[in-house]
Formats: sequence, C-alpha cells, structure tokens
Amino acid sequence: MASSEESATKKLDLQKVMDRIAEASKQVVSGVEAGTVENWVTIYIMGRAYQVPADLTILTAMEYAGYKFVRGVGCRQGFCGACATLYRKEGEYKLQAGMACQTRVEDGMYLVQIPFTPAEKPSYDIAELDYDVNTLFEYYPELARCVSCNTCTKACPQDLEVMDYVQAGIKGDFGDLAEESFDCIQCGLCAIRCPSEIVQYNVAQLGRRLYGRYDSPEPEHLTNRLEEIDEGKFEQALDEITSLGREELEKMYAEREREQE
Ligand code: FES
Repeated sequence: MASSEESATKKLDLQKVMDRIAEASKQVVSGVEAGTVENWVTIYIMGRAYQVPADLTILTAMEYAGYKFVRGVGCRQGFCGACATLYRKEGEYKLQAGMACQTRVEDGMYLVQIPFTPAEKPSYDIAELDYDVNTLFEYYPELARCVSCNTCTKACPQDLEVMDYVQAGIKGDFGDLAEESFDCIQCGLCAIRCPSEIVQYNVAQLGRRLYGRYDSPEPEHLTNRLEEIDEGKFEQALDEITSLGREELEKMYAEREREQE
C-alpha cells in the first residue's frame, strides 16, 4: 500500500498536469479594453482587414478579431505545431511561415492559417521493418526527388536544418536524421512549401523510430518508469481521479497548487 507521502506526491503531480491544462485553455485576449490599447495595427485575415492591438500574437489577434479556433490551436506555447500560419508583410514579396502563437502581428500583415497539411502518412509496424535506408525509400519514394533547394529549411519555424536531415536520411545516416529533426513539432510547413512534395516531418518520424528501436542506447529513466508502471505505482492516483465526480474534480482543480513563476 502506498504511504501517505507517496499519495501526496501523486496528487501534486496530478495537480501540475491540471495546471498545465488550465494554462493552455486560458482565454488569452479576454479582458482587453480597447480604451487601454495605445497602439493598433491593421492585419488582413484571409483578405479581410481587422484592427487589432499591436502587441498580440497572430493567434490572439485572430481571437481578438472574433475567430474562434476549433482546430489550428493547441498548446499556445510553440510546442504542438497546430497553429501553422503563412503570412506576407506589407511591401514584401516574400511569403513567410511561422507559428501563430509565437509570431507577433505587424501592420499590414496578410495571413492565413494552415491548420492541417494533407500529407501522406503510411501505416507500418516498426517491429517488422528493416533498419535500412531502403525502408525510408519504400515508404517515401519521393525522397529521391529532393532537389536540395533548401525551401524546407527556410520554412521551418523551429529553425531546423530540414534539408540537412532529409539528406542524412537519403544517405542512411539515421543518427544524424534523428538528432537534427529531434525538435520538429510537425507543423507541416516544410511539406507545404516543398517543390518535390516530400513530407519531411513524417520521413523524420519514421527515421527516429527506426533509430530509436535499433540503434539508440536504452534510456535508464524510461526503463525505470516502465518498471514503475508495471509495478502499479500510478494506479492508485489514477483510480482516485477517475472515481471523482464533476464537482469534486472542479473543487480539486480550483484548489490545485500552482507552480511558482
Ligand atoms: S498552439 Fe501549439 S504551437 Fe502554437
């Protein structure tokens, strides 16, 4: 049976998770009083002009303008890749890409959200695949069409060297492919811009999975955590929370401990 100290730790962990959910769900633009805003900019959302406070991100500016996101938003912190945006600044020919939650609006900015990339994503059983470059080409033959134009790298809001990791994949260097693509948030912007129609982020995901299964050292912390799960370390905490009613959950949520900033 778990000690009361262990039980308190589990509750604290649970509250941290709930805290993060609350942060992500926060109404970012609620309470903005137009009279208190000193600087305004005009942006164009799908061609229509809106005046919005100058210091907002594209995401919050769109909400300010009245758009309600059902898709195309998630973490609001630049991690989930859901809020891909294409935009062009006034007077510039260049079409730029970024994450709406991480990019500030500018006067005269034209923008459109790309909440989904219709990219090819084959199914496979990683346990049945060969650890070989031919596996990448089997699932993504378009890799052979890479013209090394570097457009994917320029489109990446994470500043990843996308073309380099694609080239590493083509050479069968799974270690480099995994390393260089590790911070990919799968927003899809590289694939949207690629003239060879490569789905770079899905290629990288397959490469990382192969590398992780066949070549990377086993992480000790993961082994320990899997043992803890097998031993039932978290079952009591899960049972506790799933047995609570709505009122109790809301009370627990309201009384949760918050991380100090
Ligand atoms: S909402 Fe998750 S990256 Fe922008």
